[in-house]
Amino acid sequence: MDAEIEGFCHDGRGLAHIDGRVTFVDGALPGERVEVLYTALKRDFAEANVVRVLEASALRCEPKCEYFARCGGCSFQHVDPKRQIEVKQGILEQQLRRIGHLENISFWPPIRGPVWAYRRKARLGVKYVAKKQRVLVGFREKAARLIADIEHCEVLHPRVATRLPEIAELINSLSIRDRIPQIEVAVGDCDCVLVFRNLSEASAGDRLLLRDFGRSHDFSVFLQPNGPDSLVAVDECATRTLSYALPGHDLQFQFEPLHFTQVNIEINRRMVDRVIQLLEPGPCDRVIDLFCGIGNFTLPISRHAQRVVGIEGSRELIAQARKNAGINRIDNVRFWRADLTADIASEAWCKDSYRLALLDPSRAGAQEILQYLPRWGVRRLVYISCNPSTLARDAALLTGTFGYRIQGAGVMDMFPQTSHVESIALFEKD
Ligand SMILES: C[S@@+](CC[C@H](N)C(=O)[O-])C[C@H]1O[C@@H](n2cnc3c(N)ncnc32)[C@H](O)[C@@H]1O
Repeated sequence: MDAEIEGFCHDGRGLAHIDGRVTFVDGALPGERVEVLYTALKRDFAEANVVRVLEASALRCEPKCEYFARCGGCSFQHVDPKRQIEVKQGILEQQLRRIGHLENISFWPPIRGPVWAYRRKARLGVKYVAKKQRVLVGFREKAARLIADIEHCEVLHPRVATRLPEIAELINSLSIRDRIPQIEVAVGDCDCVLVFRNLSEASAGDRLLLRDFGRSHDFSVFLQPNGPDSLVAVDECATRTLSYALPGHDLQFQFEPLHFTQVNIEINRRMVDRVIQLLEPGPCDRVIDLFCGIGNFTLPISRHAQRVVGIEGSRELIAQARKNAGINRIDNVRFWRADLTADIASEAWCKDSYRLALLDPSRAGAQEILQYLPRWGVRRLVYISCNPSTLARDAALLTGTFGYRIQGAGVMDMFPQTSHVESIALFEKD
């Protein structure tokens, strides 16, 4: 079918009406005329892929990566890398208008960083292909559940991106080559960890091969036979403690390979600076940092505030946040574990007051916690979001129900070459 692309939908796909039916077209840009192939045809909407571009948008560019058409690791390489972030700002603006009912928002200049080789965290799929007696290591394909056959990756940190064939060969040499479904990659400022999920026990020979590979390529290699607590080092020299620095705040963070950390270190540094600049914590301020993880924002804020309370759902992350406060000799922070979607009214920290708040939830947003902000006396709130739709929904509640004004918003180029949109917004109340 031929289609005229009218705009972007919330996830970066092109939006068209074909025979009156709303159609989400992967790989198409607004203003383009394209030939598409349906991939799903439902009663109310359809999904399609671009087969041929008949009239191209000025935003379109040649994807840098030769695997872009098949590999599902990236979805936005057909958009000029310098202009992707403008597109994402447009998506945020659209969501805030449609879902948040917010018009005329002032947008700050986007936070930009490196657009290639930025990704420090990844889950790589692994598949032993018996017919070819080969192992594939990479991201899943766009159109299928298969692992894309790739030899390098343009967005992954170079320490791993250039080693994919060697990692695949290593797995092919193991007795459990068909029992390893994935590898978790975690890169810190100094070290790089590979965690091989193993569904069968590795033999002594396998462990030696993994150990030697780690030593010769400077990876700390772990096996993960069960859940996230089951990591076993294959080498007594391997480190499972990674670190990153925020030099502008004189801070050092430690984390473990499976802990949540921001994937893009450059953007993280600039994002933390922007949070401090917007929140303006002062020596008399008590601040609450909700969804605080390992204290990525809590500790920088504590440099300026009287006291900061960090709340997080994961026990492991709270323990790591406390360690990070200790490593940096910070004693004006407290970290508590809580499920922020549950009733938290009886928690001691919930009975205190806070003038400033930071929210950095996962994709689901922070709907349930919003009602507490006015009760705590929060005057200024910075909301960081990886999902413009839930940010817009929560912004509607903050402005409509809880009496906050949105003072501005912005996008951050956290995930270049993908359609993920990372954004930040400031809300205030007198
Ligand atoms: C986007 S991460 C942000 C972490 C941290 N602010 C940072 O910059 O590293 C979201 C965090 O919310 C936590 N989380 C998710 N659901 C939660 C819940 N229901 N209650 C509390 N924390 C939750 C996750 O464990 C994760 O650490």
